[in-house]
Amino acid sequence: MNLALGKRLAVVMVVLAMLVLPLASFAADAAADLYKSKCAMCHGPDGKGKMAGTKDLGSAEVQKASDTDLTAAIAKGKPPKMPANEGKLTADQIKSLVAYVRTFKK
Ligand code: HEC
Repeated sequence: MNLALGKRLAVVMVVLAMLVLPLASFAADAAADLYKSKCAMCHGPDGKGKMAGTKDLGSAEVQKASDTDLTAAIAKGKPPKMPANEGKLTADQIKSLVAYVRTFKK
């Protein structure tokens, strides 16, 4: 490869990494904060469950659910105890929470 082009590409990669990495960690932090403020009081900080009737979110039983199922559970809730979040959280926030629930997988 042409050396000058290689250098230019390297600079572009570094700049891209500087732009993208903080954004990615910001999104992860936002999901963690959201979980802490909206979910942890019932599901526990580690998803293991605090309130009677919750399942361990990291268990195989919950983790085998598809992203679509988890999205629906979070958006629509599971009456009577699991509250709906549609209208309170954006679709992106719900999506980030699905990803966060996946981090509990054992
Ligand atoms: C008021 C207590 C409460 C809050 C707040 C709550 N949940 Fe739940 N959640 C429950 C209960 C209870 C269930 C089990 C419902 C059932 O299976 O009948 C449940 C079920 C779930 C499920 C489906 C897995 C399962 O057990 O079948 C997911 C995923 C989930 N909650 C994620 C979340 C997320 C993410 C939040 C935060 C936005 C949240 N929950 C907030 C009580 C709560």
